[in-house]
Parts: sequence; structure tokens; C-alpha cells
Amino acid sequence: MLWGGRFAGLLDPAAHALNRSLPFDRRLWAEDVAGSRAWAHALARAGVLTGDEAAALDAGLQAVADEFRCGAFAFAEADEDIHSAVERRLGELAGPVAGKLHTGRSRNDQVATDLRLWVMTACDRLVDATGQLASALVEAATPHGATLMPGFTHLQPAQPITWAHWLLAHVWPLARDRDRLNQVRASAAVLPLGAAALAGTAFGIDRAALAADLGFRAVTPNSLDAVADRDFAAEFLFAAALTGIHLSRLAEPLILFATPAFGFIALDDRFSTGSSLMPQKKNPDPLELARGKAGRLIGHVTALLATLKGLPSAYDKDLQEDKEPVFDAFDTLDALLPVLAGLVATLRVDPARMAAQLDPAMLATDLADHLVRRGIPFRRAHALAGRAVRLAEDRGVALTALPAADLVALDAAFEPDDIAALDWSAALDARSAEGGTAPAAVARQLAVARAVVAAWGDKDGGASIGRR
Ligand code: ARG
Repeated sequence: MLWGGRFAGLLDPAAHALNRSLPFDRRLWAEDVAGSRAWAHALARAGVLTGDEAAALDAGLQAVADEFRCGAFAFAEADEDIHSAVERRLGELAGPVAGKLHTGRSRNDQVATDLRLWVMTACDRLVDATGQLASALVEAATPHGATLMPGFTHLQPAQPITWAHWLLAHVWPLARDRDRLNQVRASAAVLPLGAAALAGTAFGIDRAALAADLGFRAVTPNSLDAVADRDFAAEFLFAAALTGIHLSRLAEPLILFATPAFGFIALDDRFSTGSSLMPQKKNPDPLELARGKAGRLIGHVTALLATLKGLPSAYDKDLQEDKEPVFDAFDTLDALLPVLAGLVATLRVDPARMAAQLDPAMLATDLADHLVRRGIPFRRAHALAGRAVRLAEDRGVALTALPAADLVALDAAFEPDDIAALDWSAALDARSAEGGTAPAAVARQLAVARAVVAAWGDKDGGASIGRR
């Protein structure tokens, strides 16, 4: 035990099991060792340790890390958390000098430092993975800049759009997720070490130098806040939840589009599952899991916010509840994003099925716009086009099959060739303002998306992180 001095005996076994965070915080080992190595150097810089002592601690901590890396590290039943486990093993390997490592430090500033380091790496990893999915969407969009499909609002046929435009609509949310994750990384990159238990370290530590050693961009300005602040974890969980919501909103229409009723797309067999009973079934399980896991990610941010809301001051053990949601949110997205990237990259598209579901009534807006271009106010044009739609419905014909004579008879504002002017390509081409679905505008959007994704690729690194 790290703190046995004032106690008469051991903790009740069930209380020990409850208290223990080792089963989940063991994945912080690399961050814990890195933080301790930097702390040993900071103590030496402050004149608290001799150079030899710091070197002995450093060598011992590297030996501990080697054991973790090759899977040889043996946890002891008494190890309460990753911090106690590392310090215990350091003592076994380095001898009594290990007892000097925790000078001027507390597990309170230590755990906050470890988790911040972990979240920084987790952000880098998810930035990379969201980028991969965005890139797969851009690739999938590339050949389909003029592929017509029905666009929906309220899930009702609305206006024609292109398949590339639809796919790119899911790139930009991921781009925002990526930006948000980079912002969370910056929030996390503020060093709490040196706050000690709550009042600040009593040894002359150069915290700015310590921050630089560990890759933090700043130091926390208040020791009480430093050990209590989990804003970065809440921000991480929000960023993860919103990413999950975006994945769910990508998944849901893909599920619909893969049904026989739509038939717009088919999933590759590698990303579909069968039924144990019905031999013909091909189910979009990965997409349904994307939809389902959004709920779990929303739960994690809610759980942490609820944990934080009533805490009195500085560190409270409630804060140990911060880690599992953070780890699980990462694991969830880390599992989901590559699968969705593979699924998108192997989607088969059926432009004929998309075209077959273009209901000519979806050109009613273009009929109204056509009248507007002749000087008729839009509100009146809207009403006229609506009457034409109703007439076609009454006749049981498509809007585009309405006889010119019937149209002209409906209202003197119509001209005989108004219906003939309606055309799918013209409807697309008209929407050429920036961000619109015209093939020319989509080509420009695609070029921008491609450049954005390429710029990400230049920066992304392959950071590794403690696994489950
Ligand atoms: N295992 C603890 C946690 O995860 C480490 C900090 C313990 N601090 C303390 N004062 N008991 O939060």
C-alpha cells in the first residue's frame, strides 16, 4: 500500500475491489511512466534529486515500461491503480531510490496528467480515423458528380440531387468532428503536474520546463482547479458523441437505400451479415451498430457531466469515474470508423434504380422557378405549379405528361411549352451557386473536399495508444 502508515490493517477485500481502478486504468501505463520520468528530471533540475538518483529512477522506469511493452509486467493484488503498480515495481527493480520519486507529487496531479496525455493521443488517433472515412466518402463521390438521385426532405421525394452531393454532405460533418477533436487535444494539453494533492508542490519545480518535456502547451494556473478539472474529458466525450451522431446519420439513410424498396446501393458481402434462420437475408449490421453506438456515446458524456456536477473541491474519488467512459468512447469510435470507411469504399451504386425513383412531381419547384423567370412573383408561381401538380394527380399522369392544352386551360399565366421546359439535367444545372447540387458546383465542392482531405493526410501521424 502507498498509504498504509496511519492504518491498523488492510482494507476490507470488497472495499479494495471497489476502490481499485487498476482493471481499467492499466491502459494508462505508458503515460504514467512518461509522466514519472519527466517528474524525476524535474526533481533533479530543482536540486531535490542528484543526477545519479534521477538516472537510476529513469533507468528503472524504462525497465518497467519494457515489462509492460512485452507483456511481462505482473500486477499484484494489492496494486490499487496504475500509479501504485508502477511505483511498486520501480521499487522492486531500482531499490530504495524509488521511494524518492513521489516527492512533491500526488496521485491527484499524476492521474490528471496521465489522462490528459492519453486523451491527446486518443484525439490524434480519432482525427486520423475520421479523416480516413471522409477520404473514403470523397473517393466514392468522385465518379458520381452527375449521377441523378431523388433528394428527400421529411423522407418524402423533394428535388433531384446527385449521389456525389449526397456523399459529400457527410464529409463536412466529419471535417468538423476532426477540427473539434483537434480543439479537444489543445484543451487537454495543459499540464496539471506540480499541483500536487491540491495546494501545489512544495519543491521548486520548473513547471514550464516539465510541460515542454511532456508535450503540453501550457501549465494549469491554479492547483485546486488543476486536480479537479475534467473539462477536457467532457469535451472529448462530447466530440465523440457528436461524431457518433454523424456516423448514425450516415448509417440510417444507407440502411434505407440498401433496402429492396429503394435499391440505390448494395453493401459488399464483407460488410453484411446473414440470418441464422432466413437463408436469403443480407443485413446491414455494421450500419445498425453505427446507429446503435451513438446512444452509448451520448450516454458517456451524460455520465461524466453528472459525475462532475456536485463535486465540492479539488480531487474527490468520484473523479475515478472519468476514465471508463473516455476509454469506451475511444474504443467505440476506433472500432467503428475503419469499418465504415471499408463499407463506404466497397458500396455498389445502382444509378438506374435511383433514376427509376425520380418522380416528375419533384420538378414542380422548377416549374415555379420557370414562371418566376418570366416575371411572375414566386408566391403566385408556387400556387400555379401546385395546381398543375394536383391536375396531374387528378388525371393520373406524371406532371411532365400533362398535355399543354390542359395546362394552359388551368390558368392564363401558363404557356404551352412550360411543361416541356422541365428536365432533370436542367433542374440540377440551375442549382449552380456554391454548395448547390449542379454537377459544375459539385465538381468544385469535390475539388475543395479533395484538397482538404489531402492536407490532412500530410499532417496525420500514427500515434499509438494503450489498448484495452
Ligand atoms: N485511481 C485514482 C483515480 O483514478 C487515482 C487518484 C487517487 N487519488 C486519491 N487521492 N485517492 O482517480
